[in-house]
Amino acid sequence: MEMDFHFYSACCFLIIFSKVSTAIDTLSPSELLTDGMTLVSRTGSFELGFFTPGSSENRYLGIWYKNIPMQTVVWVANRRNPINGSTGMLKIESSGKILIQVQNTTVVWSTNSTARVQNPILQLLDSGNLVVKDGKDSNPENYIWQSFDYPSDTLLPEMKIGIDLRTGFHRRLTAWKNWDDPSPSDLTYGIELKGNPEVVLRKGLEKYFRGGLWNGNGFSAAPNYRSNPIFDYDFIWNESEVYYIFFLKNKSVMSRVVLNQTQSERQRYTWSPETQTWKLFSVQPDGNCGKYGLCGPNGNCADEFPACQCLTGFRPKLFERWNSSDWSDGCIHSKPLNCQSGDGFIRIGKVKTPDSTNSWINKTINLKECRAKCLRNCSCMAFTNLFVTKGGSGCVMWFDDLLDIKHQSDAQDLYIRVSASEADEVEDNNLNDGEDKDENEDIDVAVFEFGTIAQATDSFSFMNKLGQGGFGPVYKGTLANGQEIAVKRLSKSSGQGPNEFKNEVKLIAKLQHRNLVRLLGCCIHGDERMLVYEYMPNRSLDKFIFGMEVMEKRQAFGSC
Ligand SMILES: *[C@@H]1O[C@H](CO)[C@@H](O)[C@H](O)[C@H]1NC(C)=O
Ligand SMILES: *[C@@H]1O[C@H](CO)[C@@H](O)[C@H](O)[C@H]1NC(C)=O
Ligand SMILES: *[C@@H]1O[C@H](CO)[C@@H](O)[C@H](O)[C@H]1NC(C)=O
Ligand SMILES: *[C@@H]1O[C@H](CO)[C@@H](O)[C@H](O)[C@H]1NC(C)=O
Ligand SMILES: *[C@@H]1O[C@H](CO)[C@@H](O)[C@H](O)[C@H]1NC(C)=O
Ligand SMILES: *[C@@H]1O[C@H](CO)[C@@H](O)[C@H](O)[C@H]1NC(C)=O
Ligand SMILES: *[C@@H]1O[C@H](CO)[C@@H](O)[C@H](O)[C@H]1NC(C)=O
Ligand SMILES: *[C@@H]1O[C@H](CO)[C@@H](O)[C@H](O)[C@H]1NC(C)=O
Ligand SMILES: *[C@@H]1O[C@H](CO)[C@@H](O)[C@H](O)[C@H]1NC(C)=O
Ligand SMILES: *[C@@H]1O[C@H](CO)[C@@H](O)[C@H](O)[C@H]1NC(C)=O
Repeated sequence: MEMDFHFYSACCFLIIFSKVSTAIDTLSPSELLTDGMTLVSRTGSFELGFFTPGSSENRYLGIWYKNIPMQTVVWVANRRNPINGSTGMLKIESSGKILIQVQNTTVVWSTNSTARVQNPILQLLDSGNLVVKDGKDSNPENYIWQSFDYPSDTLLPEMKIGIDLRTGFHRRLTAWKNWDDPSPSDLTYGIELKGNPEVVLRKGLEKYFRGGLWNGNGFSAAPNYRSNPIFDYDFIWNESEVYYIFFLKNKSVMSRVVLNQTQSERQRYTWSPETQTWKLFSVQPDGNCGKYGLCGPNGNCADEFPACQCLTGFRPKLFERWNSSDWSDGCIHSKPLNCQSGDGFIRIGKVKTPDSTNSWINKTINLKECRAKCLRNCSCMAFTNLFVTKGGSGCVMWFDDLLDIKHQSDAQDLYIRVSASEADEVEDNNLNDGEDKDENEDIDVAVFEFGTIAQATDSFSFMNKLGQGGFGPVYKGTLANGQEIAVKRLSKSSGQGPNEFKNEVKLIAKLQHRNLVRLLGCCIHGDERMLVYEYMPNRSLDKFIFGMEVMEKRQAFGSC
């Protein structure tokens, strides 16, 4: 009877492994996974087994997508210890430790399990996570070990990149050396915690890209990036941990982040079922300004030519080099600061926040207090508020040189320290006014059809011309509903895209002073840009033409 039972179970075991191996997603201490056998996650999304990368002759234990024809490895166990030949086997010990042995003796790779477990089991989950757990306990908190804690070059949905602040444990991506060799190269991607936490792509000691500060809703480098249809992401920062994570919006769409050694890039790919290929969705660094610190200290980068400008209130440190497009020396204050007798601040418009290495944060202080705090500390060079989801609360201050700033029309405003003579008093007053209002609320401005404006102004007739400001002529008009308007036709030189222009109009609307005329909206026609104001007959013409100019000019310079 007992003999029979043994025979029966051994028989079943063999059948399961050889015939329907695709159904198996677990390995227990009595079983071996030899080269050629695989585990497949429950619904068949991922597969674990031995593989040979590129034209290498080595064998590695790895995890790849099961349901696509192109082998795409997302995790490698023994990336530093390749196996020569197909004698590798994976097993799990009763302690919960998993190991890869060759020729049944030499251990080439193992986990460091110290847990006491009753009934350890190794399971490949549908997320692509390989986990060791105790029996049927599938609470992720209780996993004894998981491959998601030891990323290779790929970030999968629901996998964390970051730091456990209680233990100091880091999870970061490391690129493969090359197509044939999964061993770790010097290209890494993780969260760095000098100053405020930021995601950073590094090649060796050199920073290649950083994401900017998290504003509660997005990263400063790409604040509106979450509105894509494929995935959403989050950045968690509390006492216990700091990490980046992403989720699929539609579980049947595949998306992964991978480090590409040859390009020195962080790339995101999504799978295209139509073409049966991975499509490049995004890369970092990207554009003119992607590369870290292109414009040197206190430089400001823009996706235009030349890429670098000094921040407002600064001048090139070495003119000759700067003029020959060598921006590495950056910029210095054009008028020296004098902290004792009082400096001031100037708002430089929407930018990706500077490198946070030398920065400080308080999540509750408001913008006005933030300014006061920064002013008092002579080494504080810039400040801003953050956390748009909480109405723009939070105070971040930067010390020393400002690095890796980039113009970004949908990002935060940054206030930088300049000598009192260059400071922007209007701005400072606005700061006071704006104390209890939501700094980041999205003001809706109307976008008028060109036809509407042309009709209202009688095709910009000479009779309707009110005057001429530095930025272009102003016309009076009457809308079909009887409302009287003043239209400022801006000179055509700006070369701004429509979205950028709309963002600036929103800014002007946000900044407009109570005593001035109300901005109703804008009008975009080809490369022409127009601002539409409420017309108030009792106000002096100068206010239309020059009053607003102060703000428009400030805005225009701020965005340069
Ligand atoms: C791999 O094994 C083969 C045959 O056993 C041997 O000829 C070869 O030198 C080995 N290669 C390495 C890199 O150990
Ligand atoms: C591998 O080792 C196990 C026990 O450690 C043994 O039962 C088995 O025969 C060995 N297999 C080979 C191929 O040496
Ligand atoms: C196990 O611990 C050693 C020493 O701390 C470490 O070098 C090794 O990478 C660890 N192995 C795994 C698989 O984490
Ligand atoms: C930190 O955030 C994570 C994710 O929201 C949460 O699980 C954890 O409990 C938080 N820890 C603390 C100390 O708030
Ligand atoms: C999810 O994606 C699949 C494949 O692209 C598509 O067929 C399906 O309609 C999508 N579902 C939703 C809810 O968008
Ligand atoms: C690296 O990126 C280049 C360009 O996007 C691409 O052609 C290549 O296949 C990528 N390499 C890997 C290993 O994905
Ligand atoms: C650099 O360019 C600026 C602006 O074009 C010019 O005023 C300045 O004289 C130039 N300086 C040198 C040293 O070439
Ligand atoms: C932030 O500032 C508030 C108000 O000044 C203070 O009460 C709080 O302790 C500060 N928090 C930190 C973490 O410094
Ligand atoms: C200014 O801030 C820096 C960084 O937080 C700090 O080390 C320094 O002590 C502060 N100086 C003053 C005068 O508060
Ligand atoms: C404009 O001024 C006239 C005369 O000063 C006054 O009667 C009228 O009420 C004013 N209109 C508005 C809208 O302020």
